[in-house]
Amino acid sequence: MQSIEKYSVFIEEEIKKTHYPLTPKNLYDPLRYFMTLGGKRMRPILTLMGAEAFGSSKKEALPAALAVELFHNFSLIHDDIMDEAPIRRGKETVHTKWNQNIAILSGDVLLVYAYQLLAQQKAEVLPDLLNLFNTTAIEVCEGQQYDMDFETKKSVSITEYIEMIRLKTSVLLGCALEMGAIIAGASLSDRKLIYEFGQQIGIAFQIQDDILDLYADPSKFGKQVGGDIISNKTTLLLLKAFELADPYQKEKLNAILQESDFDQKIALAKHLFDVLNVRNVCKEIMNYHYEQAKTALEKIQIPASQKEPLLQLAAYLMEREI
Ligand code: IPE
Ligand code: IPE
Ligand code: MG
Ligand code: MG
Ligand code: MG
Repeated sequence: MQSIEKYSVFIEEEIKKTHYPLTPKNLYDPLRYFMTLGGKRMRPILTLMGAEAFGSSKKEALPAALAVELFHNFSLIHDDIMDEAPIRRGKETVHTKWNQNIAILSGDVLLVYAYQLLAQQKAEVLPDLLNLFNTTAIEVCEGQQYDMDFETKKSVSITEYIEMIRLKTSVLLGCALEMGAIIAGASLSDRKLIYEFGQQIGIAFQIQDDILDLYADPSKFGKQVGGDIISNKTTLLLLKAFELADPYQKEKLNAILQESDFDQKIALAKHLFDVLNVRNVCKEIMNYHYEQAKTALEKIQIPASQKEPLLQLAAYLMEREI
């Protein structure tokens, strides 16, 4: 835990140093606002840890680390529009505090900033970094589209769901780690393994996110609790509930999805999920992916001591409450 804090303090200080222009105010104020709201900064930490694991330094990987955090923040600002989310990191979302157009445009600028930062990495690693970053960015958009499509799709399989979260969430964690490995000159096979570690952690992380969305402590979570239920998101909780429900409970579940009183909708869903024990079933699937991640990490050809920070971060993420 202490070592994770060291990384996040380092990243936070670097983020604070960024100066955005003063005008147009409605373009840059939202950026300043959003970038200083905090957040776990886990993706840039992964890039730094990935670089150090293979013998590079925090300083050398810093531009790529910041790039991945800016990209993530761009995706959150746009995600909050898509999900009609009122709060993020305990504060109003950009589209709520300003408006939707402002949120679109300030998100766009963050994306361009991400590329500007990435371009600061040394020329010999840039083609590989760009290739990975571009592929990842496109995949995140694909995942986001599936996420929205699934809100109204009649039946979604667990396999389709896992693929959706792999795209919207996990590939960015894999990318963050592999960028660090690329900067450090890791072998191709180790690069693939660390990417796989990130991807499996990412799947577990998104399952955890789905669970927290309904079960988190509202005073800690920083996001609207129950938001996924309100917007009929296909989460693992919902899929498992349908799978485990008897015909009567299935009917009830379908009725809950039509409920227009949101407080009622959340309470009813939670009650039925509890009856079906879906929270624990989802936790088990989450743990399976956590184990898969650790298996990939074990295969990397570096001393165990160099893997320790990554293992610590993964363990921390599996226990997060925000
Ligand atoms: C939120 O990511 C988006 C998901 C992929 C679930 P984080 O939970 O990492 O958000 P911050 O950056 O810490 O706020
Ligand atoms: C987020 O998924 C994925 C991306 C931002 C690309 P969610 O919509 O579940 O993330 P939160 O819960 O809003 O953070
Ligand atoms: Mg969202
Ligand atoms: Mg979303
Ligand atoms: Mg979520």
